[in-house]
Amino acid sequence: MVLVAGARPNFMKVAPVLWEAERRGIDVTLVHSGQHYDHNMSDVFFQDLGIREPDVNLGVGSGTQSEQTAGVMVAFEQALGARDVDVVVVVGDVNSTVACSLVAAKLGIRVAHVEAGLRSRDWDMPEEINRVVTDRLSDFLFAPSADGVANLRAEGYRDDQIHLVGNVMVDTLLANLDRARERSTLRDLGVAAGGYGLVTLHRPSNVDDPAVFAGIAEALGAVASQLPLIFPIHPRTRPMLEQFALDDSITLIDPAGYLDFIALQDGARLVLTDSGGVQEETTMLGVPCLTLRENTERPITVTEGSNRVVGTDPATIVEAATAALASEDDHPRPELWDGAASARIIDALLEVPLVERPRPTDLPPS
Ligand code: UD1
Ligand code: UDP
Repeated sequence: MVLVAGARPNFMKVAPVLWEAERRGIDVTLVHSGQHYDHNMSDVFFQDLGIREPDVNLGVGSGTQSEQTAGVMVAFEQALGARDVDVVVVVGDVNSTVACSLVAAKLGIRVAHVEAGLRSRDWDMPEEINRVVTDRLSDFLFAPSADGVANLRAEGYRDDQIHLVGNVMVDTLLANLDRARERSTLRDLGVAAGGYGLVTLHRPSNVDDPAVFAGIAEALGAVASQLPLIFPIHPRTRPMLEQFALDDSITLIDPAGYLDFIALQDGARLVLTDSGGVQEETTMLGVPCLTLRENTERPITVTEGSNRVVGTDPATIVEAATAALASEDDHPRPELWDGAASARIIDALLEVPLVERPRPTDLPPS
């Protein structure tokens, strides 16, 4: 098995799959595409989660959408070389995910997609294109939630391709929550549990457009007058912060490591974000989350979690924050978000010999 990771939200997803596969004696080649490469966007996750060194680092780095995707493809094809690979497992929706899926499919290697079926229905998001294309190339579609299964069925995928397995990110969260809570993260930042809000922003639609970012900055300033905010800055967002001075009650910090960031989410009174994974983690932690986007590919965090999708209009954000500060979360947790998703994935991969499985070509007409 080849297991691929490339960017920050991939590392906590590959970790439990890697452990479970190796625990069952599967030979795993761990590939890092190098899409994210700063210490606090990559290495810190390997350290915090005890993930072993990748066997291969493609060292692709940053670029335009096509430069990065094509760079991963060329390097991954070379890295596969003459290796005898039965399945390539990819996670999430980043450029490295779709690039490696395409290479594997064209080499006739089975593709397994962890986090299949999520749809924002927003074709302006590079991730939505990556999700749809990766799913189409995949032999195994591992959906984290029932909405993902419904999307895949509606798109015509066969039932034998679709596996509702739960959420691997939750496997990692549950395995590490106690360690995160033991850290001095909150103390070091001079905040107490329940006494601050947490912000993350990195979607191009929010942080590449000065007009949109100005509105969000205004809203954050208004929220910060009610609740001090901590804002770990994603590298994509940094240039905007050089143009906009944020309110003094907003503490800007470097991207946090995994354990520190889980501790920060766990202690937050409110989270404001455009991250996909943070919507899921706040749902598990029961922390109110406002998603500063017009849509989400993770609707289960709204229907069965603590998330509200509020868009980017400043008045709406402030109103939603005020309402969230006055409420308590008492939601159930989504089905199968229980810490055993990676075990279900390995079960499914081992269930039927790969050579006996029908290929994606055999999709019925949708
Ligand atoms: C990528 C993913 C996005 C994911 C996000 C998680 C795609 C299309 N996007 O977005 O889905 O939500 O990661 O964090 O795959 N940079 C650094 N250091 C790094 C990495 C990036 O400085 O280690 C800077 C570079 O200037 C780079 C920019 O951040 O151009 C954007 O990085 P990139 O990987 O292209 O996209 P993200 O916005 O990080
Ligand atoms: N995360 C982190 N440090 C941060 C911000 C996020 O460790 O400063 C973690 C977060 O807990 C989650 C994952 O990164 O596990 C989400 O990744 P990100 O928001 O970069 O990408 P997305 O999920 O939006 O694709």
